[in-house]
Amino acid sequence: MFNKFRLGKKQEHSSTLRDKIEELKKQPIPEHVAIIMDGNGRWAKKRALPRVAGHHEGMKVVRKTTMLANKLGIKALTLYAFSTENWKRPKNEVEYIMRLPEEFLGTFLPELVENNVQVKMIGYKNQLPVHTLHAIEKAIEETKENNGLVLNFALNYGSRAEIIDAVKQVLNDSKNGILNETDLNEDIFSSYLMTSEFKDPDLLIRTSGEIRLSNFMLWQLAYSEFWFTDVLWPDFSENHLLEAIEVFQKRQRRFGGIL
Ligand code: FPP
Repeated sequence: MFNKFRLGKKQEHSSTLRDKIEELKKQPIPEHVAIIMDGNGRWAKKRALPRVAGHHEGMKVVRKTTMLANKLGIKALTLYAFSTENWKRPKNEVEYIMRLPEEFLGTFLPELVENNVQVKMIGYKNQLPVHTLHAIEKAIEETKENNGLVLNFALNYGSRAEIIDAVKQVLNDSKNGILNETDLNEDIFSSYLMTSEFKDPDLLIRTSGEIRLSNFMLWQLAYSEFWFTDVLWPDFSENHLLEAIEVFQKRQRRFGGIL
């Protein structure tokens, strides 16, 4: 039923928002922002709506956030849309979430193409329903020449499984003489992860007041700045993203050293 909701008109930013964007762009913008989009269920519950209504509303926020991230000059935006643990949820909810990429990309792919956004995905593709994978792969293909923001969906993604798989590949390459044990270092290990083509996130955002990582990019977030907010994902606005960037710009990143 929620698929019939109108998804909103062409994205336009108010002059206040445009001013804020320009102000923030005077300082370094995080190159890679990762978001744990949490609180869709609670958002729906507060309105006595089914949980899936929260996911649908959350999808609209994905669009707004993507467009703003692109305007800000963020290079990559990784969104945790479905974890390897989320299969434990009720079947109807899982099926609903797995339909969202089709709906989202069915509606917004032309806008993403027009705005030079490149779609990518990390996660285990082989367990995804064919229709979900097809929608994502079509978007990846149609945006592959774009060189603006990379919109990276973490779908059926789990960090521990990713690390174990990387270790298995390292062992295999070592056994086959492709990799010398003595050459293995952090950069080389990173190249075995699903995120090999991405720089580690500079900023992690998690909504809904939960202060945990939930098996998300455990290796990659080692030196990221974290920004948590009580705001539920469907209520996450452009101003919230700007606030997170502003806080990020005030942090001093030392990467274990001293200034
Ligand atoms: C967590 O909130 C949210 C999810 C597991 C799903 C996230 C999916 C979206 C925001 C839509 C993704 C859109 C596309 C285009 C793929 P929760 O359900 O755990 O919320 P709760 O903690 O309040 O129950």
